Amino acid sequence: MSAPTLDRPAAPDEAALQAHFDATIAADKRVEPRDWMPEGYRKGLIRQIAQHAHSEIIGMQPEGDWLLAAPSLRRKAILLAKVQDEAGHGMYLYSAAETLGADRADLTDKLIEGRHKYSSIFNYPTLTYADVGVIGWLVDGAAICNQVPLCRSSYGPYARAMIRVCKEESFHQRQGYELLMTMMRGTDEQRAMVQDAVDRWWWPSLMMFGPPDDDSPNSAQSMAWGIKRHSNDELRQRYVDMSVPQAEALGVTLPDPELRLDPSTGRYRFGQIDWDEFKRVISGNGPANAERIARRRAARDDNAWVIEAATAYAEKHAS
Ligand SMILES: [Fe+2]
Ligand SMILES: [Fe+2]
Repeated sequence: MSAPTLDRPAAPDEAALQAHFDATIAADKRVEPRDWMPEGYRKGLIRQIAQHAHSEIIGMQPEGDWLLAAPSLRRKAILLAKVQDEAGHGMYLYSAAETLGADRADLTDKLIEGRHKYSSIFNYPTLTYADVGVIGWLVDGAAICNQVPLCRSSYGPYARAMIRVCKEESFHQRQGYELLMTMMRGTDEQRAMVQDAVDRWWWPSLMMFGPPDDDSPNSAQSMAWGIKRHSNDELRQRYVDMSVPQAEALGVTLPDPELRLDPSTGRYRFGQIDWDEFKRVISGNGPANAERIARRRAARDDNAWVIEAATAYAEKHAS
């Protein structure tokens, strides 16, 4: 440590900084961008926030496919608002990653080159309009289970972004459920479409919580640092408990013969998740991975001129 002078106090050493960081986490206070933080904390957060941002942006595609084929003006307006919200979530999250020193263009490149992951759920195709409703109900529902605890994440900008995001996610879930309720009150063919969509999306939605706890390498450290608040399996159980009564109210069956209430715990037991399928999809070999990334790559390349023009314009005004 250098000797203090009148105008410049001594810089605290690493051990003092680490102690201050540990005390912040222990007291459940927020870490802010200018605070010192361990390199592992910074890197882990960038990885998690970028993965989350990529999921929001790639997640616009499966539903965006239905914008031109929405069955009414009302449905089109709702879907358009929802897909735009997801773009906004991605922007908040990339901004949060930038407060940690990450570069947005670099994160996008890593996504396109397959060096960053995004949620496996968005690699499944949307085959009918009922899929739009089921995504709102189940996929946004699972996102809410995952994200509400992140509003208390130890990193300030991430936690604050999540508060705003979660308010919009709850609108997403309700619009999906309302769409499905409307279809269930319709014709036999519409009811069959809803059931078919539920059959295809239920298991992939359970995979959204990530691998089981005993196979989740980053979880323990993330929880010790207050980045994550609950384990993958805990959140998955919470989601199942929330969804089963909603499925009953809707009048659909969930495609799991082992699903039943355990009277001793008041929680639902469910069947074995196909983790081979999860690994296949998350590693790039799901039904729509190639298409999702090809589109994201085209969007980056075809719109590069917009960034160039905006940068040139800003530079001209600055000078
Ligand atoms: Fe979102
Ligand atoms: Fe959403």
